[in-house]
Amino acid sequence: MPDKEGTQDSHNYYLDVPAVSEPFTLKGSNSLDWGMKNRLSKTFDPDSGRAVMLAFDHGYFMGPTSQLERIDVTILPLIKYADTLMLTRGILRSTIPPTYTRGIVVRASGGPSILKELSNEEIAVDIEDALRLNASAMAVQVFIGGEYETQSVNNLTCLVDVGNRYGMPVLGVTAVGRDMVRDAKYMRLASRICAELGASFVKTYYVPEDFETVTASCPVPIVIAGGKKIPEQDALKMAYNAVQQGAAGVDMGRNIFQSEDPEAMIQAVRAVVHDDMEPEQAYEFYLTLKGGTSE
Ligand code: 5RP
Repeated sequence: MPDKEGTQDSHNYYLDVPAVSEPFTLKGSNSLDWGMKNRLSKTFDPDSGRAVMLAFDHGYFMGPTSQLERIDVTILPLIKYADTLMLTRGILRSTIPPTYTRGIVVRASGGPSILKELSNEEIAVDIEDALRLNASAMAVQVFIGGEYETQSVNNLTCLVDVGNRYGMPVLGVTAVGRDMVRDAKYMRLASRICAELGASFVKTYYVPEDFETVTASCPVPIVIAGGKKIPEQDALKMAYNAVQQGAAGVDMGRNIFQSEDPEAMIQAVRAVVHDDMEPEQAYEFYLTLKGGTSE
């Protein structure tokens, strides 16, 4: 006897409803395993497909740089506005409340300080500790054209191997040496090498000319570093141009935490990245939040 739902028993198998099977739309990531995709979704907002990463890992080679002297005072008020934090495990354990539930990109390479040759890095975090910390990605610096180029590329490939074993994405960070030209040709080379060797996403610098060729030739998402502090208006324009030219977001540090009003700045950056707010309007938004005038 069919029951009141019209089925033979109390089960409903929705025989006329096709199984839900949605593609994972983050660039180049559809073939990854579930854990990897889940971790990437902590960094890249599944709605916009973009990310505002707040970078404050600078201390791993610079020590207590300006505005990172007391991360508990200057950075903690900002973390609620970030999709992901990029930081060292030392700061994560010592300073970030474990009630924080969004993305954590752990700095996983290191070695030399600003007093030495920066490209001479080694792997600085074990996968087991990254998993223990519930990290959503491990970040490794790659010095294409640098003195220790091969060593740094080897750091990336070793982390990719172990990351693939455990479902941990690797962020390849393209580091540009002091004497190197920052142009699209270099960024294309460095980003593409990171992606080819297995990075799940790549951090690079924005270049004003032909940046869209950098994003187009990289098969995985690109986020841009902010670089040295520039006026807020210019930093917002840079973030806007980057996402309009194919970047999946920003991994920004100094242009947020060294801003005159870091809380206002990170919210303006969010509007640019997630809502495509134009830079002029975003700057007005920044000024409004800052409590200044829009003159
Ligand atoms: C340090 C890094 C930083 O995370 C990166 O440079 C982002 O910070 P900023 O926006 O200040 O450049 O990778 O090597």
